[in-house]
Amino acid sequence: MSEQTLVIIKPDGLARRLIGRIIQRFEDKQLQISQIKKTTLTKAQLYEHYKHLIEQSFFPRLLDYMLEGPVILMVIEGENAVLQTRKIVGVTDPMEAEMGSLRGDYGINKTRNLIHASDSVASADEEIARFFG
Ligand code: PPS
Repeated sequence: MSEQTLVIIKPDGLARRLIGRIIQRFEDKQLQISQIKKTTLTKAQLYEHYKHLIEQSFFPRLLDYMLEGPVILMVIEGENAVLQTRKIVGVTDPMEAEMGSLRGDYGINKTRNLIHASDSVASADEEIARFFG
């Protein structure tokens, strides 16, 4: 079934010039980039997006990281896009992510893990509305 999901390429993905390689992986899997923009997220947007993590000890680090520079926001569309995208991205910790996944190949640690991808159709809808209106 065709779905949409939200992907954020985090600031070091831009600083390290990995945007092209990241998009290629999604396109290789027949997923389409239906919307894309470059923006610098605000603290308010990040508090909303990561509201379930505000109490975590790593939250200040996550916030600093996401504020290091601009990000790429993308809506990715295609068959089973939510799960397919999560698989291409790999698990949260790059040390556990499989080689061949984006985090396995390029991620540094649990904070500097390069990409965010929605974890369900419901959160994809919420996140797409948040960032693309
Ligand atoms: S959780 O705990 O189930 O919500 O974990 P997860 O869905 O994997 O997402 C956690 C997000 O917080 C970021 N982050 C960290 N997670 C765990 N440990 C540390 N130290 C940490 N630092 C940052 C992690 O990258 C996830 O970000 P997103 O953007 O959602 O992938």
